[in-house]
Amino acid sequence: MKKKVFSGVQPSGIPTIGNYIGAMKNFVTLQDEYECTYCIVNQHAITVPQDPQELKERTRGLAALYLACGLDPKKSIIFVQSEVPAHAQAAWIVQCNTYIGELERMTQYKDKSAKQEAVTAGLLTYPPLMVADIILYHSALVPVGEDQKQHLELTRDFVQRFNNRYSKKKPLLVMPEPYIPKEGARIMSLQDPTSKMSKSDTNQKGFISMLDTPAAIRKKIKSAQTDSSGKIEYDKENKPGISNLLTIFSACTGRSIKELEIEFADSGYGAFKEQLADAVIAELEPIQNRYYELLESDELDEVLTDGAKRAAVIANETLAKMEAAMGLGR
Ligand code: TYM
Repeated sequence: MKKKVFSGVQPSGIPTIGNYIGAMKNFVTLQDEYECTYCIVNQHAITVPQDPQELKERTRGLAALYLACGLDPKKSIIFVQSEVPAHAQAAWIVQCNTYIGELERMTQYKDKSAKQEAVTAGLLTYPPLMVADIILYHSALVPVGEDQKQHLELTRDFVQRFNNRYSKKKPLLVMPEPYIPKEGARIMSLQDPTSKMSKSDTNQKGFISMLDTPAAIRKKIKSAQTDSSGKIEYDKENKPGISNLLTIFSACTGRSIKELEIEFADSGYGAFKEQLADAVIAELEPIQNRYYELLESDELDEVLTDGAKRAAVIANETLAKMEAAMGLGR
């Protein structure tokens, strides 16, 4: 039997090239080898305030981007989280088997709660919903960027605990593993290369969105922070800016960082940035063209309706088994 893969992206902003390189590019690669399910996790997005109309548009937009990147509904299940109620139901079970201390230790919770004026309970219980997403589909592999590693560890702890407590003889839940790219697992902000590139960054110059125009991409790369040495070499500690740009270049072209260092050994930052912009535009332009076509099509909604039906069959079955194992029911 093929291994199962699950992952998701929040429609909390337009995905950045960080989301693309760290996660979405791998979604596409994995679908040829595994049984994959990819979700637009809109219920995760509402753990912080969202404008309802924008959230709706971004949800559909993210689905279009999934397809435009190359996700194929014949190979993968693609659906919207809120359309499969089993996620929220399973999340409750997860919450009742997770400790507040574990959740308070999550670095993403600490970072995000520090930025909010009023912290919702949902922000704290965000990881249990993510655990639910993963376990419902018997996922063995979860393609994510580095920032999700801790949530995956929590998922693994939960799986072990649940199987131990409720299904000792025949483990019900599959132990998942994160699938993190060797390079590009943490693309950094263009303006502050010591912090992660984020789609919710208030400084637009810090990130390249997957829908940025070629002119905007060029401008943002031009103003990306580097250093005064003028040398194009990979040194994450001492030259985080140029190292980040080399990583992006490598991810967009498939060429190794070593190869790029050699090619640009005698170039200045200006020329390097010009060619990096060309590479990013060449990677994103076909995706953008397909995205705009899909957005206007009926195909997109058909894929999502069908995806939710297929996902619900699997999710409901796992949920029913979890409930039965715990004694929920008569
Ligand atoms: P989200 O929406 O923040 O990000 C989506 C994916 O992109 C990765 N990522 C990055 N990778 C490299 N460099 C970056 N700068 C960068 N920024 C983001 C993230 O690691 C992620 O893989 N909690 C998840 C969504 C989620 C999920 C799930 C993922 C909900 N349920 C179940 C996997 C399985 C999140 O906030 O992703």
